Amino acid sequence: MSVHVYSYRPAASFVCHNRQFAEKYGNIFSLCLFGGKCVVISGFKLVREALVQNGEDYMDRPVVPLFNDFVGEKGIVISNGNQWKQQRRFALHTLKNFGLGKKSLEQSIQQECQYLTEAVAVQQGEPFNIQLLLNNAVSNVICCLVFGHRFEYTDKHYRSILQNFNDIIALQGSLAVQIYNTVPWLMKWLPGPHTQIRSLVQKVIDFVEIELKEHKESLDPSSPRDYIDSFLIEMGEKEDEYSGFDSRNLSICTLDLFGAGTETTTTTIHWGLLYMIYYPDIQERVQAEIDTVVGSSRQPSVSDRDHMPYTNAVIHEIQRMADIIPLNLPHITNKDTTLNKYTIPKGTIIIATLHSVLRDESVWETPHSFNPQHFLDQEGKFRKREAFLPFSAGKRVCLGEQLARMELFLFFTSLLQRFSFSPASGQQLTLEAKLGALRSPRPYCLCAVPR
Ligand code: HEM
Repeated sequence: MSVHVYSYRPAASFVCHNRQFAEKYGNIFSLCLFGGKCVVISGFKLVREALVQNGEDYMDRPVVPLFNDFVGEKGIVISNGNQWKQQRRFALHTLKNFGLGKKSLEQSIQQECQYLTEAVAVQQGEPFNIQLLLNNAVSNVICCLVFGHRFEYTDKHYRSILQNFNDIIALQGSLAVQIYNTVPWLMKWLPGPHTQIRSLVQKVIDFVEIELKEHKESLDPSSPRDYIDSFLIEMGEKEDEYSGFDSRNLSICTLDLFGAGTETTTTTIHWGLLYMIYYPDIQERVQAEIDTVVGSSRQPSVSDRDHMPYTNAVIHEIQRMADIIPLNLPHITNKDTTLNKYTIPKGTIIIATLHSVLRDESVWETPHSFNPQHFLDQEGKFRKREAFLPFSAGKRVCLGEQLARMELFLFFTSLLQRFSFSPASGQQLTLEAKLGALRSPRPYCLCAVPR
């Protein structure tokens, strides 16, 4: 029987309580959240049944007042219907054209790995916080695809834009923002984190609009350079709001790709280095495999992955434990549907928790500990696991999964090929997370000692 919990819980503490709720109320229960009825689904079996087997019923996004105020239903991440379909298809197609699955994209990531390792080498093994450098390097990959160029790590204006993104993510976990999303009419005119988020997002949109203006001025329709050019060509002279090929949507889609593609991958690599510091024996095994398969005279390439089962397993385990989007993005049912014999009415917000899948006790041998063996068979070969869903599943599955997997492998192996990572002396390391919109590591310093 489903249980109704009519109490307010901010998302951050909800993550912590979800496991206890699921234990008490079962893998499917409903509660009042964001001002509406919400059904929380836990465990691999049910999440798959909802998002994959009945994917059509769950493919829409609910209205999130904070974003809908200024983004409307535009972009890819929170749009629905025809606009979403068209823009998702177009983004996937364009990213493919500009290198996804091609050597050119791999080369541009390898080039960025080179810049990153050079910047890390400058630290000469002294303690430092690598987060902003990682952020800059990872964002440059998406910048090349979307804007057609990268930004120097010393570019102060660009760094401030990245900082804005970090602040937006941190503020989204705040209680005031959660309350705003529940009762926007009450708080609309009051100052608070929601007004701060709005002004930060506006700054990022202004930055994107400068890029758009430059692209419009230098566009050669016979030779698109990147996603923005391709969008401008598709839009032509006439803006079409029905399919979403209009100027405002170009800004929001660009922002979506930039936002979704930067913090997620950065946070995962940041967790990865923390786990390597925590488990130096695992770090050494990864380095031994890199030395055997790649050596030190060339950079790692994606084709090495098939010959590096241990490293591949470690990266998967990092993603499983990092669990960076524990509650997933919200979905909403677009018709009455049933799940595990319960009826879920049309218009119900669905939280298909990824945390519960990545730590499902009926699937994983040691769900709560870091154990690369989860992804290795008896012979040490890489073993795929169905419940590995950090990118979610179904119609709304992460659009950048393929790109992210490529980046994770290349950045992670390039860093470990050149450096051994250790904690800054006297620093208390913790694997506890800092909660915001993403589950991130608490700030830490590391030493990157050249090998
Ligand atoms: C959506 C995870 C990297 C673009 C999502 C969702 C998750 C996710 C869980 C929500 C799926 C759902 O609603 O069911 C991740 C993780 C990443 C990552 C763990 C890295 C480790 C990227 C990258 C891009 C990207 C590199 C850039 C292209 C998107 C977009 C959506 C999305 C546009 C919205 C898709 C839609 O609503 O149709 N991602 N993502 N992501 N992701 Fe990612």
